[in-house]
Amino acid sequence: MYLIETENNVGFLTASYIKNRVKSFVSTKNKPYFVLALPTGGTAIDLYKYLVKFCQEGLSFDKVVTFNLDEYAGLPENHPESYHSFMAKNLFDHIKISKEQINILNGNASNLETECKNYEEKIKNYGGIDLFIGGIGQNGHIAFNEPGSAFDSKTHVADLTSNTIAANARFFDGDISQVPTRALTMGLGTIMTAKEVIIMATGAKKSHALYHAFEDKQNTNWPITVLQKHPRTFIVADKAAAAEISKTTKQNCGLCSFIN
Ligand code: GLP
Repeated sequence: MYLIETENNVGFLTASYIKNRVKSFVSTKNKPYFVLALPTGGTAIDLYKYLVKFCQEGLSFDKVVTFNLDEYAGLPENHPESYHSFMAKNLFDHIKISKEQINILNGNASNLETECKNYEEKIKNYGGIDLFIGGIGQNGHIAFNEPGSAFDSKTHVADLTSNTIAANARFFDGDISQVPTRALTMGLGTIMTAKEVIIMATGAKKSHALYHAFEDKQNTNWPITVLQKHPRTFIVADKAAAAEISKTTKQNCGLCSFIN
């Protein structure tokens, strides 16, 4: 797990990384598509702003398929705060990509377990995730893998913690009772199979989670720690988010080949 502490814009750096990977991808018969896993959340808004800009400047998503990390259970797809709506508003409505290339879990499927199983299978059929982009919750969650989630979990239905519900209430007029209590999410085991992982973290609210990511031993109370054993994970953090990480860790984490 590598720390990329930056004074630059975290979304810009991450969008640049995606651009380079998509541009250098060579489509073959066996592996026709670059598989990109995409997050939602406040931190991701900047990322998409730059990705849209890159696409307007000529970046092509013709050979890309996307899989969103998660979706609320039971929230209508056209609800303004569904992750379907978030993705349309921030990315898909502004770039050239067909419906067939976009995959988002259906939180209103008649059988949620089957929906999760099929999603996992579909990722596998595309040859697995090439690049996973995520954010991080204040409690160290990735996608909707809350504290206590099994490190080998696959796509599943998850109960949200009160901490996450409270944090996400800002998107629901600050009203906790409007926030769904369950979600469908890729599992930590799904994420661990990705070839590369980028976790974006901005602001002081994320500093404690990043402290655990780098200074704690692996434990399921802090889901982010699963990535300590992933061979190519980059945590891209601004100064405020990286504030609780020790100097020693920062010295050992210097890695400059990130963008290329
Ligand atoms: C939600 C999402 C996560 C995201 C997290 C942090 O709970 N399910 O994927 O990483 O929020 O979001 P934000 O960037 O708004 O802090």
